[in-house]
Amino acid sequence: MALMRINELLRQAPKEQQVEVNGWVKTFRSNRFIALNDGSTLHNIQCVVDFENFDEGLLKQIATGAALRIKGLLVASQGRGQTVEIQVTDLMVHGTADAETYPIQPKKHSMEFLREQAHLRVRTNTFAAVMRVRSTLSFAIHHYFQNNGFYYMHAPIITGSDAEGAGEMFRVSTLDPKDPPLTEDGKVNYKEDFFGKETNLTVSGQLEAEAYAMGLGKVYTFGPTFRAENSNTSRHLAEFWMIEPEMAFFDLNDNMDLAEDFIKSVLSYVVSHCQDDLQFLEKRLLDEEKTKPQAERSEMSLLDKLRFVIDNKFIRLTYTEAIDILKKSKPNKKKKFKYPIEEWGTDLQSEHERYLVEKHFKCPVILFDYPAKIKAFYMRLNEDGTTVRAMDILFPGIGEIVGGSQREERLDVLQDKIKALGIDEKELWWYLDLRKYGTAIHSGFGLGFERLVQFATGMGNIRDVIPFPRTPQNAEF
Ligand code: 4AD
Ligand code: MG
Repeated sequence: MALMRINELLRQAPKEQQVEVNGWVKTFRSNRFIALNDGSTLHNIQCVVDFENFDEGLLKQIATGAALRIKGLLVASQGRGQTVEIQVTDLMVHGTADAETYPIQPKKHSMEFLREQAHLRVRTNTFAAVMRVRSTLSFAIHHYFQNNGFYYMHAPIITGSDAEGAGEMFRVSTLDPKDPPLTEDGKVNYKEDFFGKETNLTVSGQLEAEAYAMGLGKVYTFGPTFRAENSNTSRHLAEFWMIEPEMAFFDLNDNMDLAEDFIKSVLSYVVSHCQDDLQFLEKRLLDEEKTKPQAERSEMSLLDKLRFVIDNKFIRLTYTEAIDILKKSKPNKKKKFKYPIEEWGTDLQSEHERYLVEKHFKCPVILFDYPAKIKAFYMRLNEDGTTVRAMDILFPGIGEIVGGSQREERLDVLQDKIKALGIDEKELWWYLDLRKYGTAIHSGFGLGFERLVQFATGMGNIRDVIPFPRTPQNAEF
């Protein structure tokens, strides 16, 4: 007799063969029908118990949330909703669950409530589906890069550099915060800290990935990154996973081509490998949409949206062209934007990005050639001396999903930039070395993994696509 996962069991032809399965009770109806799930699939296996053959005390322990081991015969199901079911011959309770206190009862729970039960929420259909899609998407990402000549590179998590220069870092220190060693002028003396210098959790593996791209040619990172930005939005986490490919000899166009092909490829992988879960999430989203006013409802279903992105070319335009469109747009003229677009050079807010993607183009958009002064120091300066070879990919419902650029490969230009920004050249000595020895044009980008999972699953809040979200004032679990 084979012990099987439920996804496998559901594919068997029923021949009254002996089967054995483990799982958690979703529901127990009429003292007779157990819907059992083990996480391998959205679908439950129905297990039918003849209560006359079982001890009453044992049956009392079968409640929603209990963990069971069941043996029985696989038979064709008489009931609707399933093709096979198990006629239970043997039943063992691994652990019961008290109906009075078990939080995940078979009814609709709010996302907010489930966030407070993050250790149990994966037992709901929605979270199990999202997490299976998340897992498949991770695999698809490795699959894509490994099949396209990239090497997986592990960038350090503790670092001394601030790649993005935004100063939004979590300090890593073993000094006693109550009594740190001080320098003569009264500042904390980090020379006495664990690493002998100030260190932080990384905000991006890019700088280190550049070093590796300049030896291995094409690399990618896929790891956790940390940002201490106080953004309480549905698209920001303090700890999120980022995918950062970096390619020697790629210019910005090659970079955009790769990013577009990559996103389409991994999304089409999940569409073909997660049909059940995506259909479930699509239905969930439709139900949620019904509660919204007509004007706010999405015109496309989840799978339509995914197919639309996979099948259509992303629109590419410069920052300057985007500003022109935004300036002339209705919401700008009617003062509907919180941040009105007045002049060239202002940073785009998510309301602007979403206008371009959702209202104007109705399609994913790649914006490139941004003003130098709103972008990071490492981006390649254009001939005009004011814009850099940056690109952002904007997605419907998400806003920015990718940020990338062609990197400044010219030593003198990079040194001037670093000086102008007041960054200490000594801190970046090794990064500058990459421009001294065998420099070449190169490019890369960063994709926020959770934002991609949000897009693939239709989940509205980024906190619901990562197992244990880290956000301001919240690091329970
Ligand atoms: O645009 P960002 O800041 O770019 C970089 O970090 C570059 N070093 C990447 C590179 O060129 N190698 O971040 C990249 C992406 C964003 O487009 C967004 O999708 C995601 O990371 N991201 C976040 N996701 C969740 N929570 C946050 N707080 C995020 N900040 C950025
Ligand atoms: Mg960005």
